[in-house]
Amino acid sequence: MARGGRNTIYQCQSCGGQSSKWSGQCPDCGAWNTLVETVAAAQVGKPVARFKSYSGENSGIVRLTEVKADVETRSSIGIGELDRVLGGGLVAGSVILIGGDPGIGKSTLLMQAMAGVQGKALYVSGEESAAQVAMRARRLGVTTDNVALLTETHLEQILAEAATFRPDVMVIDSIQTLYSGELASAPGAVGQVRECAAHLVRYAKAHGTTVFLVGHVTKEGALAGPRVLEHMVDAVLYFEGDHGSRYRVVRAVKNRYGEVNELGVFSMTDQGLREVANPSAIFLARHEKPVPGSVVMVTREGTRPLLVEVQALVDESQIANPRRVTVGLEHNRLAILLAVLHRHAGIATGDQDVFVNVVGGVRVSETGIDLAVLLAILSSWRNRPLPHDMVVFGEVGLTGEIRPVQNGPERLREASKHGFRRALVPQANAPRGGVEGLEITTVTHLKQVLDHI
Ligand code: TYD
Ligand code: MG
Repeated sequence: MARGGRNTIYQCQSCGGQSSKWSGQCPDCGAWNTLVETVAAAQVGKPVARFKSYSGENSGIVRLTEVKADVETRSSIGIGELDRVLGGGLVAGSVILIGGDPGIGKSTLLMQAMAGVQGKALYVSGEESAAQVAMRARRLGVTTDNVALLTETHLEQILAEAATFRPDVMVIDSIQTLYSGELASAPGAVGQVRECAAHLVRYAKAHGTTVFLVGHVTKEGALAGPRVLEHMVDAVLYFEGDHGSRYRVVRAVKNRYGEVNELGVFSMTDQGLREVANPSAIFLARHEKPVPGSVVMVTREGTRPLLVEVQALVDESQIANPRRVTVGLEHNRLAILLAVLHRHAGIATGDQDVFVNVVGGVRVSETGIDLAVLLAILSSWRNRPLPHDMVVFGEVGLTGEIRPVQNGPERLREASKHGFRRALVPQANAPRGGVEGLEITTVTHLKQVLDHI
């Protein structure tokens, strides 16, 4: 190991933690072989002075009630699904990080969004040439004069150009390609990513510019660079969905100005991303007649109820350690549900492979999926279909109780709207007056569920 000079520190590539000497394991996060030598720029030592120069005025202490609360003015982008994920439009001075696999549509979505921006937009590309970006824009039908283009990767240069151009919205595609002259490390290194992002955040707040940062995702699915990036920005949006499918789901995993887990659903066409007006329809695979192992649930991601199909396959295992595979939901929930089934319903699946899939590439992160998974497993295990006009939702507790989830009536109305006639839900979730056209069965314990089906 090279002995570091006076201005050298060792920084963890995983958590961004710093240490004055090299060691095999990061003292902060415990990751192995992640410490990399980086130059500690002299300026980094004086954050206070730098913040002052950016804020422009001495803020001092003020009463909460005296603070002018007109900061959160929103402007719509004109793409309904994106506005929805952002919590109702763009907030001036906010910074939004957009992550996702390569080729999933980040640049496409942002170029389309820029066309709808009210005011001046600046698209900074560090990955593609001006001609490439212009070609895509033409293909997407972006022909407004409001969108300007800059191909540059030097942060200070970008900030200088932006300071004279004064865009209302700026896109940085991508943050991993930028480098600051203050640091000696290569673009994409943790130090660079963090430093560049910090400068851009400060620029956004000082000028009231909305800044979109495109971030690459590593093979493990985390945003490349330190997690600190997620803490620095106001909103983090992730592209979900696989490349095989036409559909792209944008999920807000953090939003200081809106609901988290809000979903925006798009389909990729040859003219770019198109909004999907009725997402419930695409996540439902309608079968001709009822099939075993398939259950429809109403989930609620963000502020919108969504109908999705949950499928399970229970099959005799050929290996000593039967497989438990989940797609679209948390793996641990399946293990818990199988244990509950065994303990409270006497159904042993110890010698069976169990596969559970949420159709359509959507991911369900709420506990309301429990009852649907449980019924899908039961249905597959007994090889008996459930009524195909039935929806379910509800959380399953460790003692076998069926617990209510949020916004029950709203979910039931969504199901009724899509032509479902029966519902099996937790007792506390059924509205007193019922829901028109829906026969609602309420349950409080797993035993009642088994009796009912
Ligand atoms: P892109 O936005 O370049 O992805 P990212 O910036 O996330 O890496 O999207 C590229 C993919 O989208 C590519 O596989 C081609 C496809 N695509 C279309 O299908 N239609 C279009 O109109 C455009 C612009 C791209
Ligand atoms: Mg791109």
